[in-house]
Amino acid sequence: MSKQNIAQWEEKFSSPEYQFGTAANGFLVREAGRLTPGAKVLCLADGEGRNSTWLAEQGHRVHAVEAAMNAIEKARALALERGVTVKHEQVDLEDWDWPVAQYDAVVAIFIQFTDTIGRARMFAQIEAALRPGGVLLLEGYGPGQLAYKTGGPKTIDHLYTVDELSTIFPTLRVELLEEYDRELDEGPRHRGMSALVDLVAVKP
Ligand SMILES: C[S@@+](CC[C@H](N)C(=O)[O-])C[C@H]1O[C@@H](n2cnc3c(N)ncnc32)[C@H](O)[C@@H]1O
Repeated sequence: MSKQNIAQWEEKFSSPEYQFGTAANGFLVREAGRLTPGAKVLCLADGEGRNSTWLAEQGHRVHAVEAAMNAIEKARALALERGVTVKHEQVDLEDWDWPVAQYDAVVAIFIQFTDTIGRARMFAQIEAALRPGGVLLLEGYGPGQLAYKTGGPKTIDHLYTVDELSTIFPTLRVELLEEYDRELDEGPRHRGMSALVDLVAVKP
């Protein structure tokens, strides 16, 4: 990830408005019942904390990592307001010493800032970060999003396909993998009809 790209995220998060809202992502809420009680969860590129805060409210132990300090400050404020504890850390995920076999779950909601090569590297690190029995919950945009223009990356090599996700985590057992179109209302940056790809996978 170029420093310029992170600077662009800092700029987006400099507004007091929560760019992706303060309610947790819908896919995460639908699928979080798969997590064991009090799970140790790694929340990747957590942004302004809507997902990490909600997970902590559900009783999980959450480590939220994110590159943009402006986002982390808003995430800290959200956790404080809701009276929950989240471990926030400023991290560039493309240059991080990833933990290995540490987490009961990894949550990856709209982390599409890498191209195909960077994604393969990052997904291998996600796989390694899970403990046996650990769950990956991942949602992103698919290629149809380029036509909707309602948020997300503007280049095709940052988008997910079901074909790619079905094989990119070779040691994980896929429990749910689907692409579908749905209206999103997740803050000003994710609003309107959207082309989505969801994955739930478990490390045996
Ligand atoms: C589309 S936002 C999604 C935020 C959050 N996951 C959510 O669903 O609300 C993408 C996030 O990726 C973060 N990001 C971009 N590049 C990153 C990097 N190299 N390492 C860590 N986070 C990064 C951005 O700062 C931003 O918060």
